[in-house]
Amino acid sequence: MTRFTSSLLVLVSAAVVASAQQEGCAKQVVVASEADLASLAACSTFSGTVTISGPAITAISWPALQSLTGSIQVKSNPHLSTFALEGLKASTGSIRLYNNTVLSAVSFPSLQSLHALEIITAPNLRQLSLSTIDSLGSLTLEDTGLDNSGQLPWSTLQKATDLGVSNNKYLKTIEMGHLQSVSGKFVIAANGLSDSKYSAASSISSSTPSADSTTSPGGTILSLTNLTTASNCTFRHLTDLQLPVLSTVSASLSFDETSLTSIVIPHLKSVGQTLSIVSNDKLSNISFSDLTAIGGALLIANNTELTVVDGFRQLKDISGVLNMRGAFSTVSLPAVTTVKGGMSVLSSSNDFDCSTLSKVKASAKGKTVCQAKVKSARPTNADGGSLENKGSLNVIAKGTMWSAVVTMSFLAFAL
Ligand SMILES: *[C@@H]1O[C@H](CO)[C@@H](O)[C@H](O)[C@H]1NC(C)=O
Ligand SMILES: *[C@@H]1O[C@H](CO)[C@@H](O)[C@H](O)[C@H]1NC(C)=O
Ligand SMILES: *[C@@H]1O[C@H](CO)[C@@H](O)[C@H](O)[C@H]1NC(C)=O
Ligand SMILES: *[C@@H]1O[C@H](CO)[C@@H](O)[C@H](O)[C@H]1NC(C)=O
Ligand SMILES: *[C@@H]1O[C@H](CO)[C@@H](O)[C@H](O)[C@H]1NC(C)=O
Repeated sequence: MTRFTSSLLVLVSAAVVASAQQEGCAKQVVVASEADLASLAACSTFSGTVTISGPAITAISWPALQSLTGSIQVKSNPHLSTFALEGLKASTGSIRLYNNTVLSAVSFPSLQSLHALEIITAPNLRQLSLSTIDSLGSLTLEDTGLDNSGQLPWSTLQKATDLGVSNNKYLKTIEMGHLQSVSGKFVIAANGLSDSKYSAASSISSSTPSADSTTSPGGTILSLTNLTTASNCTFRHLTDLQLPVLSTVSASLSFDETSLTSIVIPHLKSVGQTLSIVSNDKLSNISFSDLTAIGGALLIANNTELTVVDGFRQLKDISGVLNMRGAFSTVSLPAVTTVKGGMSVLSSSNDFDCSTLSKVKASAKGKTVCQAKVKSARPTNADGGSLENKGSLNVIAKGTMWSAVVTMSFLAFAL
């Protein structure tokens, strides 16, 4: 235990005149020990690139640092447990933490803005203190041990370019009450999938098997009560959803593999590209009551409990394909006047009547297919091969197969 005490990395402001140091505050440095870091300790502004990596490092603190215009990368430190930048304020630089397996606390208590913050593979991270953050270029949190016991970075966040929160298996709630806009990629996926209580690093060796593979559906609550504009959203594995003021999605919006029973977005007026609702096995109600235009495709598929689709009362224009597959008996699209990419509607229900969509069909350009009582309203491609084998689709991950159907209109019509 005391073995590492001597290597504790505290960058106390050395009794060196800061100005004499500033030239050293723009360099590229690789830090593997306390001695390596000492040369940076006095920097109040850092514009260089520092990579901190080494088995001897157990804690990092850099109290003098107030402004970061360069980047700090902290990676593969098997014994690093805490990382604190107590004095860091509004900054345009980047901080990336990768593969720090025992890291348990990260604290930037004065930080208001940053270009990028990435924390990837920090399975023991529980404390992330960013209590003053309001804007971020990008925030990525993947494969961390964050749960909902402490304050999370987004409690004060108002704006972000890209936001990615995924594979945080104990994270059951994502509430971003101040967030107003996300202008780039926004991905929430595979959070809260574990039901087991957080187990501390010290109990990992315990002989009790983990309860990770229980049958109860995992996922996360997503509550974005102030979000008005977003661009490209991928939301997966949600258990609850609040988007009460969302009004514009400039690119795509997708809900996949959630356990939501309803998707209600009352003020969304337009989606710039595709709107996709796929493989949500408890979903029975979709309501987009203000939505008038979809700039790409509308894809609704493999939602096994969805029998009535009547939540698009104002929808007029679909610029891509209208692609629906499932067991629905009723589809009502009363205001649709244009479907530019064709129409493919297949229902396995005996009660579905295609003539209820005759107006929509008449307004569709290109190929139109509507069929009831199909044996299986599931995707196949014309060659009978798997979608993944189709050239450009080789990077499509499990679960996104249906989305692929919509991006390639020829597959939308494969019966
Ligand atoms: C993660 O860190 C450990 C310990 O430093 C190292 O052995 C391993 O190669 C690293 N893995 C990656 C993916 O960087
Ligand atoms: C929500 O956003 C508006 C601006 O759109 C802002 O005035 C208001 O303070 C925000 N509310 C919260 C709780 O952040
Ligand atoms: C939207 O995000 C997805 C993945 O999250 C990406 O594949 C796609 O290219 C993005 N689309 C746009 C228009 O940025
Ligand atoms: C349909 O959805 C279920 C979950 O609801 C999923 O397990 C299955 O893989 C999906 N099927 C296809 C073809 O995407
Ligand atoms: C679906 O949700 C909307 C909005 O909450 C609601 O008005 C409507 O009654 C619901 N429909 C059904 C069938 O539950």
